[in-house]
Amino acid sequence: MARGDDAFKSGIGVVLTIIGSAVGFGNFWRFPYLVGENGGAAFLFIYIIISIVLGIPLIVSEYLIGRSTHKDFTGAFKSLNPNGKWYLTGYFTILTVILITAFYCVIGGWTLQALLQTIASIGVPQTTQDIQKSFGDFINSGWKPVLLDLIFILISCHVVSRGIAKGSEKFSRILIPTLFFVIMIMCIYSFTLSGFSDSIKFLFSPDFSKITLGTIIDAFGQVFFSLSVGMGIYATYASYVKKEENVVKEQAIIALSDTAVAILAGIIIFAAAFSFGIKPDSGPTLVFIALPSFFAKMPFGSLFGILFYVTLGIAAMTSAISLIEVLATSFIDQFDISRKKACMLIVLIEGIIGAVCALSQVDGININIMGQNFFDFLDFLTSNWMLTIICILTSVFIGWKMDRNVIEKVITQNGRFSKWFIKPYLFILRFIVPLALVVLIVNRIS
Ligand code: PHE
Repeated sequence: MARGDDAFKSGIGVVLTIIGSAVGFGNFWRFPYLVGENGGAAFLFIYIIISIVLGIPLIVSEYLIGRSTHKDFTGAFKSLNPNGKWYLTGYFTILTVILITAFYCVIGGWTLQALLQTIASIGVPQTTQDIQKSFGDFINSGWKPVLLDLIFILISCHVVSRGIAKGSEKFSRILIPTLFFVIMIMCIYSFTLSGFSDSIKFLFSPDFSKITLGTIIDAFGQVFFSLSVGMGIYATYASYVKKEENVVKEQAIIALSDTAVAILAGIIIFAAAFSFGIKPDSGPTLVFIALPSFFAKMPFGSLFGILFYVTLGIAAMTSAISLIEVLATSFIDQFDISRKKACMLIVLIEGIIGAVCALSQVDGININIMGQNFFDFLDFLTSNWMLTIICILTSVFIGWKMDRNVIEKVITQNGRFSKWFIKPYLFILRFIVPLALVVLIVNRIS
């Protein structure tokens, strides 16, 4: 087998690597603006419930698939269901991951730009209009986002090409603790801002009258996106885990850490927004336009800005690495090629699709599908449809098809750990998850 005996060296390495995947733009960018748009704490409350009731069972499921077979996502389905067609889920996942990686790395490139811009503007006072204009100019230049996207892809692929133990695990073991440390520093700093108490009030005093079906649906989508569910990431990493570990506990730690980072990022971003009169629901532009304006006005803002974009860059890169790992492992196992070759192939594929994505946002270039530019279309198609379909397939497969003994063996690690989780877990997978996801889909269609 081309993957050799590469494996995680430690349990903490597994947890940190998967946290690296989960923590990303979803926490720093999507979560705050969704909280903003959906009336603050009420959204947070629903979000936490969904991540416990549906998120944890789903990530445990993906994990089970990889852990019980030690194969890539497609190969795992093939070996768990040799005569059926479930392996097609694996191919569909590869396609989905190729598309998500393409636009994710484009945003990774924007983060590099925001970092460079913050460094360049040290000592040069800038207004919000200046920042808005320079971000617009950057996007419209066409070549700059393409170049930064490519740099982002190359660095991520380089880490993946080094293998699990020497690449992803080592990278995450250094960077994830650093990320937590920097977030803590920023959080402490945000105490000193005038908007801090408004931020806490906004996030933690719920207005339940604001909850609508739409809020719940947004929360669903966000839980999946933020936990990186539905992309075979957990299965892929789990296929490199050889030691015995408490799977349920590990996955719960991962889900909690991801939510904790989202809340801390929310506190920081809203404290910043309220202090400088930026609207908390100013949408996705919050991170790339509103925050730089804030950094431009605050004392030692450049320093804080650099810290923030470095953090965001780390978070984004560890997530991109996990996506690329799914592709690399699939190519290694399916085509029986070396890791290096697999990574070169990924640079080529993602470089091309990413360039189309980035160029589709340039004014005057029309690369539109169904009335949206290619970038927005990919985001819409993958987050709203493809991921949901993969989640339904995975939960139905585990809930209804997979051998119960295999499930029990992985969850209890041959009887070492308690099996209380299995009953409620299977109930949720069999009934609640598919039902919830179908409601979600019906709602999107109607
Ligand atoms: N979970 C990541 C985030 O919160 C997003 C992501 C999605 C990462 C898919 C990898 C795969 O940003």
